[in-house]
Amino acid sequence: NGNRLRDISLDELAQHKNKNDAWLAIRGMVYNVSSYFEFHPGGEEELMRGVGIDATDLFDQVHKWVNYESMLKKCLVGRLRTDSMLPP
Ligand code: HEM
Repeated sequence: NGNRLRDISLDELAQHKNKNDAWLAIRGMVYNVSSYFEFHPGGEEELMRGVGIDATDLFDQVHKWVNYESMLKKCLVGRLRTDSMLPP
């Protein structure tokens, strides 16, 4: 259902930076990871480092091999809107 995904700006992403309202972007997709905190093998503090931001680089630095796409399928919130996608 990719077409129904909402566009989310970096500003909006940054507003969801608390553990109980934690959004995180990886490769253009925005996920709500609040329900994943208790399962993250790297701990809550580590996961928190990526919250509210485009965490792609951070994620890849730590564990590029982890299949986040299938793990977070139900946590998908929308797509990250980048400046290059804005109308002129
Ligand atoms: C493990 C950090 C996001 C899934 C780890 C570990 C660290 C870490 C340091 C190693 C723990 C250890 O070996 O003791 C981070 C940071 C994140 C992040 C900074 C912020 C972007 C995520 C996300 C997922 C995830 C979004 C999946 C939805 C996992 C898994 C492991 C792990 C499956 C175990 C990997 C393995 O042992 O091969 N994480 N993590 N992490 N993390 Fe993350």
